[in-house]
Amino acid sequence: MKTLRSVAELRAALNGPRRAGRSIGVVPTMGALHEGHLSLIRRARTSCDEVVVSLFVNPTQFDEPGDLIAYPRDEARDAALAAEAGADILFAPPPAEVYPRGFATTVTVDGLSAPLEGEHRGAAHFAGVATVVTKLLNMVGPDVAFFGQKDAQQVAVIRRLVRDLDIPVRIEVGDTVREADGLALSSRNARLRVEDRRRALALRRGLQAVRACHAAGERDATILAAIGRAAMAALDVEPEYLELVTPDTFAPVTSVGDEQVLVAVAARVGDVRLIDNDILNGSR
Ligand code: PAJ
Repeated sequence: MKTLRSVAELRAALNGPRRAGRSIGVVPTMGALHEGHLSLIRRARTSCDEVVVSLFVNPTQFDEPGDLIAYPRDEARDAALAAEAGADILFAPPPAEVYPRGFATTVTVDGLSAPLEGEHRGAAHFAGVATVVTKLLNMVGPDVAFFGQKDAQQVAVIRRLVRDLDIPVRIEVGDTVREADGLALSSRNARLRVEDRRRALALRRGLQAVRACHAAGERDATILAAIGRAAMAALDVEPEYLELVTPDTFAPVTSVGDEQVLVAVAARVGDVRLIDNDILNGSR
């Protein structure tokens, strides 16, 4: 695996394979790699000839300066893990390569970026994600880009921008990878205090309560959400939101019919903000 730092080097490295008709896959990450990231890299390895993993802690998508400062960084460790999972290229540009002096363009996805994560993290969050993902797709020119279902709203925003801007890439989404007890893997889990680790299960418990209540026949979204919140309260966690929405538009759902419904939840556990989600009527 090669580590490359400039867009020019990256394009030069991919030129030959592209001309030879080899397929290119990209897995965008902010590093601090865990099994969630590695499952996406392995998946890219099985379906693409050249696998690029990007590692860039994107400052424009952080809404809390403390979160950006505290974000774990260990490139040597990430490089070893990415290589082991099958990456051919680690693209780890410095901030000035991504945001050169005079940078003035922002990609915003209206509507989808506003509710839930957009409301709680601010409009700049998804603008930061949409802009950096657009840039990474233009830098790499991949056939396929891989993202995790754990960040369901991010997936919806990226699918929308790829369609709206005619970016010729297929988006593939990997299932959420969890700890044995059900906690969704996140780079931020390492910051949970020992006494908060058990409480962090509240998000999963809330989602499971909604699923069980739906399976028992409840269809009213307000009641389902209230059941989820009550399950979280049992672990002394109050969600920032727990809502039932349509997976592609993130419009609120009032009643669950036969169609897929995304149950999305976010909560602060101690100092750490966590998210998770589940799909009703889905295969997940
Ligand atoms: P990051 O949080 O590093 O996540 C990189 C990718 O890994 C994302 O697609 C995310 O959804 C996925 N992922 C994270 N936790 C996962 C889990 N437990 N199971 C499966 N997949 C998981 O998401 C970002 O970075 C950034 O916003 C990025 C897209 C790189 C743009 O800066």
